[in-house]
Amino acid sequence: MDTLYHIHNTSDDAKVRSAIRRLTLVNFRNYKYLRLSIDKPFVVLSGENGSGKTNVLEAVSFLTQGRGLRRAKLSEIKTFDFLAAQQTTPTFINNAGWAVSALVQQGNEEINIGTAVETQLRESNYNEIKEIERRIVHVDNQKLASQNELGKYLPMIWITPQMDRLFLGGAQHRRHFLDRIVATFDIEHMRRLSAFDNVYRQWMQVLKSGKLNSAWLSSLEEQIAGLGVAIAAARREQVHKLNTFMEKNPDDVFPNAVLQLNGTIEAMLDQKAAVYVEDFYRESLIKLRQNALYNNANDEINKTDLIAIYLKKNVPANLCSTGEQKALLLSIALAQAKFLSAHRGIPPILLLDEIAAHLDDFKRDALLAKIADLKTQTWLTTTNAHEFDFIRSTAQFFEIQNNQISESFSA
Ligand SMILES: Nc1ncnc2c1ncn2[C@@H]1O[C@H](COP(=O)(O)OP(=O)(O)OP(=O)(O)O)[C@@H](O)[C@H]1O
Ligand SMILES: [Mg+2]
Repeated sequence: MDTLYHIHNTSDDAKVRSAIRRLTLVNFRNYKYLRLSIDKPFVVLSGENGSGKTNVLEAVSFLTQGRGLRRAKLSEIKTFDFLAAQQTTPTFINNAGWAVSALVQQGNEEINIGTAVETQLRESNYNEIKEIERRIVHVDNQKLASQNELGKYLPMIWITPQMDRLFLGGAQHRRHFLDRIVATFDIEHMRRLSAFDNVYRQWMQVLKSGKLNSAWLSSLEEQIAGLGVAIAAARREQVHKLNTFMEKNPDDVFPNAVLQLNGTIEAMLDQKAAVYVEDFYRESLIKLRQNALYNNANDEINKTDLIAIYLKKNVPANLCSTGEQKALLLSIALAQAKFLSAHRGIPPILLLDEIAAHLDDFKRDALLAKIADLKTQTWLTTTNAHEFDFIRSTAQFFEIQNNQISESFSA
């Protein structure tokens, strides 16, 4: 099919501002060892189902803050010998943990980012010694205090096949999507979210223990309210900025969206000053002390939902067709990527897993052309590399077979 879209020839990709130049995986899912060197703006990974395409994207997603593209348990990731496990107890390929490291280009600078899992012994509430796994991160050989600090370096946006149902499933997934978007711009957002969950858990523990030490409870409630309102404010601000950006920069191919937030604390911030909302939050927690264990209505900011409206039809996304929903999602992701590029000066790396499914050829090629204009690196997966013939000159193609990757040069 002929397309209106043309890719400017950027086979020298000197103009790309965010990129991974070298990626190394050790003991990461189906890869005992893998190294890729990359010098193009697009990376296409092809292979049959189960060959390990998404695993590579997941590894890349650990170069930014958060729990990775699958939100997997850290303990699931280490290379596992499934055949051996069928006969005996679980067997790991060896005792070393998994690791991902990369040479990353950011503007004119290069940095090394490495992440791995560290096992620590912790005493549990019942005086048992538990082994817990924690992700540790190094940037240029300096250990970061927390993986949340990674947000400073390499923003990333990913779209996965699971997100095809984003607008249909539970609010939790839309909230995660929103929070990841907020985090690409506001690098404190993930830290606040994990601090919130941590303090909230402590509050519930005190209530469960029945030892109502009110000074301690008050201090926790103060922290929950403060963090909760900051989180809600960051979400509101990002939604507002993104809506404004999308209104000013409507897309000619992808459907334009308007985002709305459905959350008690977020809504209250429309009307009242933050200090007032914090007081309200704190007071509602005090009222809930008695029945918080039975009634989960208090976890306010963890109930917020994101609603997307398909502007042209004025229809909420959940009532759109499968293809329309995918296009809407891409439209939002693309807008955030452009917005970041304009306002943070760093375009996010894009990880697009099986992106061509549900898109007609015209939309797929238009998407690739629009991404090329972003001057960032984009990772694509497919079972059929021909889907990406449109970007042959600017892409590096890798084929995955038997847990090995080889670069393929011919069309
Ligand atoms: N910890 C692990 N150790 C070894 N192999 C693993 C581990 N976790 C997952 N795998 C294997 O990785 C493979 C899945 O890889 P992945 O999801 O990347 O495939 P894919 O190429 O994206 O497939 P599809 O086209 O179906 O999406 C499965 O065969 C799975 O058993
Ligand atoms: Mg996959």
